[in-house]
Amino acid sequence: MSQYFPPFASDSKLEAEADERISHYSESKRSAVLPLLHIVQHKFGFISEEAIAWVAAKLDLEPIKVLEVVTFYPGFRQYAPGKYHIRVCRTLSCALGGSAELMDDLCKEFGIDRTAADPHHHPISVSPCGKYSVEFAECLASCGTAPVCLVNDDFYEAVDVAKVKGACGE
Ligand code: FES
Repeated sequence: MSQYFPPFASDSKLEAEADERISHYSESKRSAVLPLLHIVQHKFGFISEEAIAWVAAKLDLEPIKVLEVVTFYPGFRQYAPGKYHIRVCRTLSCALGGSAELMDDLCKEFGIDRTAADPHHHPISVSPCGKYSVEFAECLASCGTAPVCLVNDDFYEAVDVAKVKGACGE
């Protein structure tokens, strides 16, 4: 499987960007944990163990404290996604609206094998080309337009495979 995002690595540009964000929290630089995690996920696709250690060192925190933040917020990923990460809502309205069938159709379309997926340990499944990944999500707050999904950070309602492919530029 090819990986779309580069592996985590700190360089002078990343350090400068992080230091600039930290400078906004002169009272307590620990408060910069969320901005730093967002920077890392944006650049590297997910929050790796190496990235957690780096954020912890930047903020003088124990790595476990950073891990607690990462695991608390569903928007943070601990596994590498594809270029287009598709989060399909599976809560009641979307389940009744066909989200499980939509997930099956997306996997078939993109050649994704979800047999190893589980909500806690391997929630993200990636296509062999590394371009697409899928994950179930909980309620995305648009229950009246089920099924809904996020493609990266963009929201889509009444979704079918064609709409997702369009969101991925196809
Ligand atoms: S149940 Fe899917 S958006 Fe609420």
